Amino acid sequence: MAANDQIRLLLIEDVPQVAQYVRGLLMAQGQIKLVDVLSDGGSAAQQIPELRPDVVILDALLQGRVKADQLVSRLREAGSKVPVIMLTVPQQPVQADPDRGIYGVLSMPFSGYDLISRVSQVHKEQLEAGEGAARSRMVAVFAPKGGVGRTTIAFNLAVAAARQGRRSVLVDGSIQFADLRALLRVPSDAPSILDLPTDRVVESDLTDVLWRDPSGIDILLAPPRIEMAEMVTTRDMEKVLSLLRRLYDAVIIDMSVALDELNLALLDRVDTILEIVTYDSTTIHNTIALADTFRVIGYPASKVQYVLNRADANGGIDPADLSRALGRVPEHIIRSEGGIVVPANNKGVPFVLSNPEAGVSQDVERLAAALLGASEPVGAGAR
Ligand SMILES: Nc1ncnc2c1ncn2[C@@H]1O[C@H](COP(=O)(O)OP(=O)(O)OP(=O)(O)O)[C@@H](O)[C@H]1O
Ligand SMILES: [Mg+2]
Repeated sequence: MAANDQIRLLLIEDVPQVAQYVRGLLMAQGQIKLVDVLSDGGSAAQQIPELRPDVVILDALLQGRVKADQLVSRLREAGSKVPVIMLTVPQQPVQADPDRGIYGVLSMPFSGYDLISRVSQVHKEQLEAGEGAARSRMVAVFAPKGGVGRTTIAFNLAVAAARQGRRSVLVDGSIQFADLRALLRVPSDAPSILDLPTDRVVESDLTDVLWRDPSGIDILLAPPRIEMAEMVTTRDMEKVLSLLRRLYDAVIIDMSVALDELNLALLDRVDTILEIVTYDSTTIHNTIALADTFRVIGYPASKVQYVLNRADANGGIDPADLSRALGRVPEHIIRSEGGIVVPANNKGVPFVLSNPEAGVSQDVERLAAALLGASEPVGAGAR
């Protein structure tokens, strides 16, 4: 193996015998280069950018001023993407948690084979995650007012993205009312986000839980009963979104109206908030109020793109007045076509498939291309 293909490993270990043991295991191989062994967590955070490791092995029981957990947090805060493998003993189990940067665990005693395969696997996973995540677009379909067309647009947008060759997943973020269950007439025993494991979620867990819709997209459903909504934690949602981002080109989230903790966590994570407006004075009022809140939160104006739904039904409101109120012309428009949209929704099919030639379908196709067009499909790369 060429030297520049070697995986650069940094060991942070304050027990000399363990450090020596790891050195010994790595001796007769060329796949992994041990760049250094550091015994102090405090100085490790500073030295990591210089040492440029691909993978860090960190003793979970590290003594000294900066403990292992603190070091992991510091690295994250400093924006480090280097994956960490925690070295531990069976009596002190540690959970892998890629969101915190802990991609793997090695429990003592371990063999040379265990060590090398874990380091290689973590390195590979992290490379793939970076590639997938960089290409993927995550879009929240949101509005500060109900009934404006979020569920309809989110569903058809996800299907349009799939038609355009993207791997597309739709997340039912309307956690209480599970709008997509109703729209798609999903059986009540179909699994939901609550059926995912609570610790580390991996790709194979998703396979069992996602609803494969006949329209060609995968859907992560909300729980089947209203009172189950409170069991969905922000943490669960964040974990699953970061996995979906690695696996799909387009992650579309149908949101509820509330600006609560869960929704804010979702909105923080997405690349684009697709905000639906209609020619309705309450909707416009709430949209302006929300823009103000987003400014206070610190979202850049470019994070939000407006979709004017039912754009040809202005209800007496002058389009220029709407643009003035929003501070810009809405980036996208979708026309009103009740004769197409309502029957398609009532059958639980996307109108972009049932009536691809309809004006409203073309509008959604155009929206999908504008939102997702810039990225190259994940499927075209490493996968
Ligand atoms: N462009 C359109 N043309 C015609 N009808 C539309 C259009 N967009 C949405 N509708 C209709 O508007 C109604 C509300 O749509 P939808 O349920 O998607 O909105 P929502 O914002 O998700 O509502 P909720 O607050 O219930 O979550 C539906 O009956 C849908 O068929
Ligand atoms: Mg809805």
